[in-house]
Amino acid sequence: MSSIVLKRTGQKMPVVGFGLWKVTKSSCADTVYNAIKTGYRLLDGAGDYGNEKEAGEGVHRAIKDGLVKREELFITSKLWNTFHAKEHVKQMAKMQLDLWGLDYFDLYLIHFPVSLQYVEPKDKYPPEWWGLDGGVHLQNTPMQETWTCMEQLVDEGLAKNIGISNCQGSLICDIMRYARIAPQVLQVEIHPYLTQEPLLNFCKTLGMAVTAYSSLGPQSYVELGMDRGVVNLLKHDLIAKVAQDKGKSPAQVLLRWATQQGLAVIPKSNNQHRLLENLECSAFDLSEQEMKQLSGLNIGLRMNDPAEIDPRMAIFA
Ligand SMILES: NC(=O)c1ccc[n+]([C@@H]2O[C@H](COP(=O)([O-])OP(=O)(O)OC[C@H]3O[C@@H](n4cnc5c(N)ncnc54)[C@H](OP(=O)(O)O)[C@@H]3O)[C@@H](O)[C@H]2O)c1
Repeated sequence: MSSIVLKRTGQKMPVVGFGLWKVTKSSCADTVYNAIKTGYRLLDGAGDYGNEKEAGEGVHRAIKDGLVKREELFITSKLWNTFHAKEHVKQMAKMQLDLWGLDYFDLYLIHFPVSLQYVEPKDKYPPEWWGLDGGVHLQNTPMQETWTCMEQLVDEGLAKNIGISNCQGSLICDIMRYARIAPQVLQVEIHPYLTQEPLLNFCKTLGMAVTAYSSLGPQSYVELGMDRGVVNLLKHDLIAKVAQDKGKSPAQVLLRWATQQGLAVIPKSNNQHRLLENLECSAFDLSEQEMKQLSGLNIGLRMNDPAEIDPRMAIFA
């Protein structure tokens, strides 16, 4: 299975995409171009990644060179926390589309269920978690207000699909009570240290596709000093053994563990060899026993938790 069919639109979302978080701005256009040339068709961006303009340059060069047509690409972006109020959602979606040089996103997600005070893009973009004074400033915009604006983006053709990220069951239940257009995709952190089976079962019940992020586990957080000192999954004895038995790399085993559960993955690499290796992660199967062994590593360990920035943002508590 190379794609997941989204319930409302029937659009096909590639199972393996390319993640753009921490893709260096200076190399982003070339990296995106090479990712497309290598065969990636899904690009997972966000306003917060600060490289949308450069990613767009890579896309347009690939289209101009005849590598791909726009309609063959699946481009995802995300609305940042400071733009949740009704007067800012469309303004930001349009600004981000302009940065990419696109008419529409295939998927637009609410990045976090955290609403922060507006920061003028001309003063700081991307604004990250902090206001101009260095403090975290919460804002009381209810999710319903933001979601209603996301639905209007679909009505106006600015986004083909809309979804959410970093949301848990009770908030998803609430969104489903008022959604005219149900979220098509949930993007959350999932790896063998954080398997989240109840959340996955809930999404399956709703027919909501799930994209796993940080599939390689702590690796992405080493450079941020946020890997929590656990054994790196890429060096874990169990993963190494399975990788050796299958003749695959540890990264490919971790990605296959996710895709074999029906999840989409969006690995990121600044390295052409690893980028190719990650794309080729589906040409083998793990046995039921191997799947269970990997899932058995679950310790509920989350790397990406905004409560660490400010305890008032304990969205996973
Ligand atoms: N919605 C959200 O809140 C959210 C949060 C986090 C991430 N995301 C999305 O998910 C994407 C993926 O997550 P992520 O970037 O955190 O982590 P990831 O893709 O699981 O891991 C990336 C890290 O692993 C290394 N790596 C990549 N491929 C490798 C391989 N084959 N072998 C060994 N090391 C490898 C990369 O280094 P090199 O670059 O040097 O290869 C980088 O350090 C992001 O880029 C972003 O698009 C979304």
